[in-house]
Amino acid sequence: MCGIVGYTGMQQAATVLLEGLKRLEYRGYDSAGVAVIKDSGIDMRKVSGRISKLCEETNNGEALPGCVGIGHTRWATHGAPTDMNAHPHKSNDGRFAVVHNGIIENYQSLRDELIGKGYLFESETDTEVIVHLLEMYYTGDLKKTVLRVSSRLQGSYALGVICTDYPHEIVAVREASPLIIGIGVGENFFASDITALVPYTRNVIYLEDGEFARITPDEIQVFDLLGKIVKKEVRRVTWDVQAAERGGYEHFMLKEIMEQPHAVEATIHPRIQNGEIKLDDERMDAGFLNNINRIVITACGSAFYAGCAGRYAIESLCKVPVITELASELRYSEPMIDEHTLVIVLSQSGETADTIAAIKECKSKNASILAIVNVVGSTVAKLADFILYTWAGPEIAVATTKGYTTQLVLLYLFALYTARVTQRIDDKTYRKLLRAIKTLPRRIQESIDMNPTIASCAEKYKDARSIFFIGRNTDQAAALEGALKMKEISYIHAEAYAAGELKHGTIALIEEHQPVIALCCNEKVWGKTMNNIIEVKSRGGDVLAVTTKKNGMISSVADDILYIPETETLFTGLVEIVPLQLLAYYTAKNRNCDIDKPKNLAKSVTVE
Ligand code: G6P
Repeated sequence: MCGIVGYTGMQQAATVLLEGLKRLEYRGYDSAGVAVIKDSGIDMRKVSGRISKLCEETNNGEALPGCVGIGHTRWATHGAPTDMNAHPHKSNDGRFAVVHNGIIENYQSLRDELIGKGYLFESETDTEVIVHLLEMYYTGDLKKTVLRVSSRLQGSYALGVICTDYPHEIVAVREASPLIIGIGVGENFFASDITALVPYTRNVIYLEDGEFARITPDEIQVFDLLGKIVKKEVRRVTWDVQAAERGGYEHFMLKEIMEQPHAVEATIHPRIQNGEIKLDDERMDAGFLNNINRIVITACGSAFYAGCAGRYAIESLCKVPVITELASELRYSEPMIDEHTLVIVLSQSGETADTIAAIKECKSKNASILAIVNVVGSTVAKLADFILYTWAGPEIAVATTKGYTTQLVLLYLFALYTARVTQRIDDKTYRKLLRAIKTLPRRIQESIDMNPTIASCAEKYKDARSIFFIGRNTDQAAALEGALKMKEISYIHAEAYAAGELKHGTIALIEEHQPVIALCCNEKVWGKTMNNIIEVKSRGGDVLAVTTKKNGMISSVADDILYIPETETLFTGLVEIVPLQLLAYYTAKNRNCDIDKPKNLAKSVTVE
């Protein structure tokens, strides 16, 4: 949801900014721009379209000389993705330029006020008010001006500001949108996320909400919004450059699918010691867990579907009622939550606006928050009482894959751990399930090894207009994520249905050659799903079944079959999702879609 980047040092700023923007492009990619300070003022270039176009138009930044600058890649909220609406925005007097990630909620009244005072607006964006406010309140003191302007803004914003009177300085402001400062030698940076910084430095400072930084090549000063200096800790990032690069794969998505055995292993391995599961926080003990009488799982997008898939393991093993609720709904509902509720929040980025709002709502009702999150130091991690990090490494493709599977495996671990410490499981079953969890990375690898078969299966879907995904119980949760993967990257309408619900309406849409993907991996219910397959077949539908070799009956009902490796029924969701990811990937590839950057989407949704 927009990426911003800033640089001050000795290098050609525009070139560094463009490199950073390429790495942030997954956050939004409908237009982009850079601005640098040069002798005569601020030089700026903006284009609608991808960063590659901006690179072409600036000769990879060479056309914009200067050592201090800011850049932006946009996911449009206010105003169409045009050149004029692209960031940066410049003040009428040419002194300031601004890039912004977030939404200024009171922009309309500020815009009216500024127009009344004679300021000329060039764009339809909410952001432009900021740059005119900077001009209006400027007294010659940049720090005071930033403080004054921030006090007028409502909403979420990560800002980068340059001012011609401060030719070596960039200013970064954070309020409810992520912002990280990178510390170099004789050069410093800021960016919306670490991926833009890792080629240059691993030493970072995380700004908190209500903080801003003045950054020069040799100094970084952080202040609160009262103007008082804040002492910040310098953190060392463990992600390396290779992890954030494609490494020979055609797409990040494919690379990230292939990385899943390793990512799941990295997430499980440190948490199993001498046959016992150790969750990272000792406060999550029997006393705490026995006091919990309800679990609410909340998240957005695929993270929500990981929650739906993990719910079955928690209910079955922990014997606690589990409610799954979309974060965007939960934040405006009146959830039945109290101090005996554990809210499990799932988020790859840790910055999803609705997820953050849902946490705040639940905290206000005294619930405990357990965050399952990938990005260390993210907002979700900071707000939570307990954190379990998924050790998936950077995920760049907009459509999540390893983010999803590492979240799901942590839910399995949490379920089994809770059942064990609260003595709701016998020793034999515990050992059997723990063994099964340990083999999951291998099972995922075996699913990946079906790659060529899946690629040829995908040929069938190239021209489909609509695909149904059906299943029951854990299979139904996998169907939700499988359908989402298909629609977000191939743009084919895809709908997930609880198989038993088909006959309550949707079956009316089944006609000759309608593709249906039937998930039959859960042995407890696959017999029932197979009845639904027969209903689909009787109406002419084409069925691809995903199941295991144990299911001897499937060949008599389905047209095509993908056999996944066997695992414990409770954990099949983790294995069966892999062929669905690959199926979506190859279908999108056959349709020449932009797989890593699907239209209209952004990876990190930091606005509501
Ligand atoms: C976006 C992404 C999805 C992701 C969702 C939640 O829609 O495209 O892949 O599942 O946001 O993001 P989070 O970072 O909170 O997991």
